[in-house]
This record gives sequence, structure tokens and C-alpha cells, in this order.
Amino acid sequence: MTEDIKKGLAGVVVDYTAISKVNPETNSLLYRGYPVQDLAAAKSFEEVALLLWNGELPSEVECSEFCAFERANRALDSRVKAAIDLLPVDCHPMDTARTAVSVIGANHPLASDSSPEAELRKAKELFAAFPAVVAYDQRRRRGLDLVEPREDLNYAQNFLWMTFGEEAAEEVVDAFRVSMVLYAEHSFNASTFAARVITSTLADLHSAVTGAIGALKGPLHGGANEAVMHTFDEIGIDKNESREEAAARAKAWMEKALSEKKKVMGFGHRVYKHGDSRVPTMKAALDRMIEYYSRDEILGLYDGLQVAMDEAKGIQPNLDYPAGPTYHLMGFDTEMFTPLFIAARITGWTSHIMEQRASNALIRPLSAYNGPEQRSF
Ligand code: COA
Repeated sequence: MTEDIKKGLAGVVVDYTAISKVNPETNSLLYRGYPVQDLAAAKSFEEVALLLWNGELPSEVECSEFCAFERANRALDSRVKAAIDLLPVDCHPMDTARTAVSVIGANHPLASDSSPEAELRKAKELFAAFPAVVAYDQRRRRGLDLVEPREDLNYAQNFLWMTFGEEAAEEVVDAFRVSMVLYAEHSFNASTFAARVITSTLADLHSAVTGAIGALKGPLHGGANEAVMHTFDEIGIDKNESREEAAARAKAWMEKALSEKKKVMGFGHRVYKHGDSRVPTMKAALDRMIEYYSRDEILGLYDGLQVAMDEAKGIQPNLDYPAGPTYHLMGFDTEMFTPLFIAARITGWTSHIMEQRASNALIRPLSAYNGPEQRSF
């Protein structure tokens, strides 16, 4: 008998969620009912985090209380720093991130408490603590010292401050905030589902986030934003080149790649088949960065690849496509891009972990056996 196998669980609806709604027909994405582009236009990342966790946008009081909490919990714990310092500087930053979350979990005073109150506290603390992990990891790879957080800066400003040791311009802070809002949540993607599977066994929040980081590392998922930059590097970034020249080289590169049947990262999506709802907002942020840094050749590379892919296969870019070059222009090393995705997605993952626990059933699908029949040795 042939079983009806849904390879990759494609098209399978596995549970309800009230956290976000992806609608591929209308290319839209709602967080708790609000269009993501509206949130990106008007709300801080801190407000979006509270919306995802609590289901409603915060009042002014709730917002300032959380901001004070977040600012007070930003410093890199000395035990986490010691664990990071044991890792080689050439390991992948996703390995650093995964290890750091595990160490944070092992040292948490409420490690074995998975009550809703304890989980929300852990989620908020992780949200506050994680940027220091990314910032310090980029710095130590460059032979630089840790930069302490500043309580007078908001989340996005402080993230950039801890990474680069200088205050970022308003335009840069805003593009960074937009990227965090857009990366925050996206329903049952692979890493979120991994977090829900782990939670369904009644394991703790830090175990679920650590597992989710493992799932996010792969280039078919979060790793795609790094891979986009590797593509740009392979084509060659020449600051002195005009936009048109860069576009022509990128187009030729894409035509060759597709003729060799290569998968080009940053394009395509399991759910969206006519374009990713988040791309126009992220592309607008990228355009602002290209203008701010006067880097028109990046736009040429971006357009050249996109046009060639559209003409050849009609496949559209996903969020990772504009996000990769945006982070590059800001000065992040390419391998730090996926850890930045984690910083944002901690909000979505932890919301799903709490939702899963509130209405839990162990996730344990069946398989169809296609190995040898019973035999003796
Ligand atoms: N480059 C080239 N061809 C692509 C492509 C890409 N990025 N994405 C999809 N295709 C092609 C496939 O080769 C396949 O063509 P075929 O039918 O001629 O074999 C067809 O489109 C369907 O692709 P498939 O991989 O089966 O679709 P999927 O729904 O399983 O894939 C992704 C979704 C995201 C895994 C896929 O688009 C991909 O690998 N993209 C690149 C990685 C990426 O950017 N990931 C981030 C996602 S947010």
C-alpha cells in the first residue's frame, strides 16, 4: 500500500495559532491581527515584542515598564562570556549563539519552572540579554573588547552601540529596527515548529530556543541571509562600479547559475508563491541604506539578480534577500546575519513556546516503513 506522505509536511495544517497569520493569496502577514508593514512603520521593536507575547499592543505604562526591564537586563553575564571565550573565533556565530542560550538556560534560577509567569520572564530576559551575545561575538572575532550596554539607548540603538562601539545614525537605527520587526514572527516555519516540537515534550524554554537556533542555521531557512551576501561576494562588489554595470554582471551570474540548475538563496518560499509580504518594507529600508552609504552598486547587484530570476523562473525574493545587504552596509560581518535573525525571532519563538504549552499535545507523527521485511541474522 502506498501511503499518502506529505514530504516536508508541505500543505499540512498541524495546529491553530493566534500569533500570526500568513496569507499567500494576498501576500500579507499579520501579527496578532496587525499588518506587519503597519507595525514596521510605526512601532518600536519593544512594542512589537509585547504585542507578540501578550496579544495586544502595550499601553504607555506597560511599554515603559518593559523598556526599563529590558535596559536593566542587557549586560553580558560573566558565565556566558566565559563560555563564549572558550569557543574558537572561527566557529560559526550560530554555534556561539546556540551555546550562549544553552548556558543562559543552565544558569537560570527558574530553570525547572515552566509556569506561564516564569516563561514570560525568561522570554523577556532572553530578549534583553541576547544582543550582547551577538555584539560581543562580532567584536571578539575582530580582536576587540566587549562594549558595555547603555541604558539611555533603546533596543536598536543599544544593539548597534554594543556591536560597533559608536552611536549609529538615526537612519541606520531605523532600518535595523524595521529588520527586527519583520524578522520577529512567521507562523509555523521550520525553527518555530522545532521549538514547538521540543516544548511539546514539556522540555524548558531554553531547550526549545536552543533547538530552534539549530533549525534556523540551515541555508534553506535563516542561513539564507548570509548566503545572499556570499552570492554578492562571488559576483564581486566593486564600490567604483556604476549601478548599471553591477546589474549587468549580476544578471549574467544568475543566468549561468540557473543554467547549471543551482538554487539561489534569498529567492523562493514554501508558503508565498507570488512574493514575500515582508520584502517591500525591507527593500525600502535597504534603499535608504544604499542612499545613506552612497552604495549604488549594491542596488545594481540586487536588481540584476532579481530581474534575471524573475525572467527565467518567475521566482520572487524572500525577506533574506534585502536583509542580507542591509546588514552588510551597516557593518555586520556576513556570518553574523543569522544571529541577528535570532535576536528578532526570539519574540516569535517564545510566543509559540508559551502557546504550545498552554494547549499542549505531544507532537509525534507516524512514518511509513520502507526498509527490509522482518529477517533473522
Ligand atoms: N533558486 C532556484 N530555483 C528555485 C529556488 C531558488 N531559490 N527556489 C525554488 N526553486 C525552484 C526549484 O528548483 C523547483 O524547480 P523544479 O520544479 O524545476 O525542480 C521549484 O522552484 C520548486 O522549489 P522547491 O524547493 O521544491 O520549493 P519549496 O517550496 O520546497 O522551497 C524553499 C522553498 C525556500 C526551500 C526554496 O525556495 C529555496 O530553497 N530557496 C532558497 C533558500 C532560501 O532563500 N530560504 C529562505 C526562505 S525564507
